[in-house]
Amino acid sequence: MSGAEFDRHAATYDGGLDNPVKRMMGDSADQFIAVKARWLLRREGGLRAGTLDLLDYGCGAGDLMRVLADHGAQASFTGCDLSQGMLAEAAKRWPERHGPVPALALQQDARTPFADGRFDIVTISAVLHHVPIVERAGVYRELARVLKPGGRLYVFEHNPRNPLVRYVIARTPIDENAILLDAREVRDGLRQAAHYDLDTDYLMFMPPGIGFLRGVDQALAWLPLGAQYVVAARKIR
Ligand SMILES: C[S@@+](CC[C@H](N)C(=O)[O-])C[C@H]1O[C@@H](n2cnc3c(N)ncnc32)[C@H](O)[C@@H]1O
Repeated sequence: MSGAEFDRHAATYDGGLDNPVKRMMGDSADQFIAVKARWLLRREGGLRAGTLDLLDYGCGAGDLMRVLADHGAQASFTGCDLSQGMLAEAAKRWPERHGPVPALALQQDARTPFADGRFDIVTISAVLHHVPIVERAGVYRELARVLKPGGRLYVFEHNPRNPLVRYVIARTPIDENAILLDAREVRDGLRQAAHYDLDTDYLMFMPPGIGFLRGVDQALAWLPLGAQYVVAARKIR
């Protein structure tokens, strides 16, 4: 694994919106990230207390943390990534109105510099499909290591069962080496690394740019055809 591949994309990273089909579904990358942020905030009761430690693993340009903060989340944010260029971008894009830039750490392969059990919440969004298959077990072990017992891990990924997703990924420059994985593979991988309670929701059935259709997305969360999915894992031990 190397960060150099992603350093090339850092300055212009816009969540794959260079793809015209994706642009038809929403006109800003934040609209896509906001679907995940809103889901997470519903699940976590709004994250208003400001006391929880949240790690975004593979944070890229920090968009998920930033959009969570835009929606009122007040966790103590930390991001890590393999790519120094992405971390620099995350620092640059963090708006002053959200206070100090999150702690940002460079990874060595899957490993992060954090103590065991340091985080209450860990998110990993649109990362695993970039991790070579043989290296994914190491990522699952690292996620489990840094999560507290009772902590929650949220794995957001593109859903390979959705044909439009496969079409877009095959035509998006940052995804040139991507290997998509379905929710079952994620659940199996997580179970090998720790003891979790697991459940899965499917997201983004409707274009994220069309606000009044959000209720439809929530009603369909059980159907394994959304453009994204989230595997939610509560660590038992
Ligand atoms: C498509 S971007 C997603 C960034 C961010 N999570 C988001 O949702 O906007 C993929 C990111 O994963 C990072 N990445 C790839 N392999 C990684 C790994 N093994 N560990 C941590 N980050 C990784 C890349 O450097 C890149 O920043």
